[in-house]
Amino acid sequence: MPDSTLDSSIHPLIAGRYSPFGFESRSIADDDLLALLEAARWSASAANAQPWSYIVATREGAEQFAQMLSCVDEINLAWAEQASALLVGCTRMTHEGTGAPYITAEHDLGLASANLVFEATARGIGVHQMTYINREKLCLLYRIPPDVKVVTMLALGYARRAAAGKRRWRKPLESFVFGGTWAEALPLLKSREDKAGLTQADSAMVLSVRCDTSDIRSHGRV
Ligand SMILES: Cc1cc2nc3c(=O)[nH]c(=O)nc-3n(C[C@H](O)[C@H](O)[C@H](O)COP(=O)(O)O)c2cc1C
Repeated sequence: MPDSTLDSSIHPLIAGRYSPFGFESRSIADDDLLALLEAARWSASAANAQPWSYIVATREGAEQFAQMLSCVDEINLAWAEQASALLVGCTRMTHEGTGAPYITAEHDLGLASANLVFEATARGIGVHQMTYINREKLCLLYRIPPDVKVVTMLALGYARRAAAGKRRWRKPLESFVFGGTWAEALPLLKSREDKAGLTQADSAMVLSVRCDTSDIRSHGRV
């Protein structure tokens, strides 16, 4: 069942992040953009193999930006075209040197992108990631090697307040956290349910009340 309550004890960077459906026209300072990429760089990865790559196009480079935007599917164009920067997230599917399959390549890219997203959130920058992109065109235009997989595109920018997006919801913990065998309830969650009557009103807040990024900043950096 969809659930839009959120345990307020999680970090405001996580609670307040969302995928914006519109961006202001101002650009992202070079130092900020570099910091986001540095955050991705310091992500964990299997055997520290760091399989991720990002191709970056900023609005300042109009031609490059237009080229990357031409690889965004129609469904995402209305807000992606407002972004200050577009990034293509790629990952190497084999280990350098040995050529062995890199089992967690996509996971590791996702982790690096998560670092990037939270560094962005801490800086008041919004990120909207994309599945609906033209991967064949990206591979051709950017001459991406065959063992590198294009996974996502990321639209970065300062979210327009009015473009916060739809009401957010999540599956409840019980639907994906198990104890013992698959789908078996984790006792910890059961005892939480028992206590819920007393605590839920205090600990939950409705996610549709947007967290202003300045609120996140005022909680300090992680
Ligand atoms: C890998 C990935 C791909 C996504 N692709 C798209 C997309 O193509 N179009 C879109 O509108 N949103 C896309 N999203 C955004 C999700 O729809 C969004 O994260 C989800 O609805 C939860 O909303 P929230 O990020 O505001 O919490 C994508 C998110 C991720 C992580």
